[in-house]
Amino acid sequence: MIYKGQILVVTIDGPAGAGKSTIAKKLAKALEVSYLDTGAMYRALTLKAMRESVNMESEDDLIALAKRTVIDIENLDCGVKVFLDGEDVSQEIRTVEVTNNTFYIARAAGVRSIMVEWQREMGSRKSVVIEGRDVGTVVFPNATRKYYLDADVEERARRRYDELIAKGKEVDFSDVLNDVKVRDEKDFTRKVGPLKKAEDAVVIDSTKMTIDEVVEEMKNKI
Ligand code: DC
Repeated sequence: MIYKGQILVVTIDGPAGAGKSTIAKKLAKALEVSYLDTGAMYRALTLKAMRESVNMESEDDLIALAKRTVIDIENLDCGVKVFLDGEDVSQEIRTVEVTNNTFYIARAAGVRSIMVEWQREMGSRKSVVIEGRDVGTVVFPNATRKYYLDADVEERARRRYDELIAKGKEVDFSDVLNDVKVRDEKDFTRKVGPLKKAEDAVVIDSTKMTIDEVVEEMKNKI
């Protein structure tokens, strides 16, 4: 969709558990534009590396893997689907094992450049709400509107804990909190594409806000 005569690119960066996916999806729907989850791409490539027992310590092996992989994200009526070489992996990329291994892909500079190219390609064809860690800083530095969505670490862990409990998993809050802290540390300290607020991003702290309140605030600022 061409939005008021131009392609609209809205970026949302922020730490794990800040509510980016839910909010980005809702915002995209409200604006009638597409939605792109860049984390899903890192997850899909991680899944393939795990399945093929690729040496994840080797950047060259990961680059070679990325070059022979096709990842597609489609906004379908039934929801957003992630395809890895044509196979629907939307569920499988959400396991704890994949989550814990994404950092290998995320820290490999050569793989990130390939990801960034894919994301620019996918995001420049039509108006989009795109979410991730570096989408406002690296992928679309000239985005129409940038947001940095934050929330206290305890609150982010609590949301993750509630989600896992709702899925019937037996987990300890302190373990979940620790996992979130470990992911934060990896996201903030990565040498390439670390999580940081773009200078011109609007910061929204969702700690005490509902999803709809955040979406409304974002929409009003576009
Ligand atoms: O948003 P998520 O939890 O699905 O992302 C999975 C991982 O991918 C996350 O731990 C960091 C990485 N990632 C990244 O490095 N850059 C992005 N733009 C998006 C995600």
